[in-house]
Amino acid sequence: MSPMAFFNGKFMPVEHARIGVMTHAFNYGTACFEGIRGNWNAEHGQIYIFRLREHYQRLFDSCEVLQIELPYKIDELLYYTVELVRRCAYKEDTYIRPIAYKSSQRVGVRLHDLEAGFLIFATPFGPYLDIENGARCCISSWRRIDSGMIPVRAKISGIYVNSALAKTEAHDKGYDEAIFLTHDGHVCEGSGENIFIVKDGRLATPPPADDILVGITRETVMTLAKQELGMDTDERTILPEELFTADECFMTGTAAHLTPIIEIDDRKVGHGRVGQITKQLQGLYFDVIFGRNQKYIDWCTPAYVLARKR
Ligand SMILES: Cc1ncc(COP(=O)(O)O)c(C=O)c1O
Repeated sequence: MSPMAFFNGKFMPVEHARIGVMTHAFNYGTACFEGIRGNWNAEHGQIYIFRLREHYQRLFDSCEVLQIELPYKIDELLYYTVELVRRCAYKEDTYIRPIAYKSSQRVGVRLHDLEAGFLIFATPFGPYLDIENGARCCISSWRRIDSGMIPVRAKISGIYVNSALAKTEAHDKGYDEAIFLTHDGHVCEGSGENIFIVKDGRLATPPPADDILVGITRETVMTLAKQELGMDTDERTILPEELFTADECFMTGTAAHLTPIIEIDDRKVGHGRVGQITKQLQGLYFDVIFGRNQKYIDWCTPAYVLARKR
């Protein structure tokens, strides 16, 4: 199946969706985006797009930060996204990438007096990290950018140079993923994932005030932990040494799903194997995102039904 894009208000093959070299966003990182997964359920013959509306709500919030005014309402974008996935007709897991950007062909760093562009593309996308055996991580020598520099709750393209530096440093040192600390030395998150620890049967994850991107998967896992396992999550500052004394540790993110962390800086987390609570949460999470749990089916938008334009 050929990849398709929604670009300048039209559906087209992805190779026809092109931007000019002077595009403001290309020059200055003045764009914001989302990463959304469409999860292929072969038994149902269906792609379930996970928490589509929540992703677009976050995109609209990011647009506010960048002063990008889109000529679409949220419901229209939900429709175009479902329609794009339907046209791609993949029978495999899919990644959907909407981008809102400063499209003016103009030199000059600023946010004001610039035109807005919007596009979506979709591409097949399998696992990002090793969800079965777990990831080996290092604590990055790069600190996470803080909200006094760029508002980190917004998913802004330019911020991702910070993540790219950390990810490649981890890769070059032989690890799978990086863990950022904040400027204050608190545990923050991965290059594209939030982080959780389990200690004595309690879950904890860094709070938004510790400069995380407030992840939709993070919120999903907190909800499942509470509703299905009766476990509250403490949103609190986590110190780096707590990573070494945790019983279990895992990362959450649209790309990474729920990935166990089995080692940090060559030290085993717990027994160095995927932990029991991590495994339980993973099982729940995968049932939900593949549309196998009716209780949470409202989080899944089926792509292969005729979408209705609202
Ligand atoms: C820096 C960063 N943190 C956390 C996340 C996890 O967010 P979500 O669960 O909404 O995908 C992402 C991925 O979007 C990310 O890029």
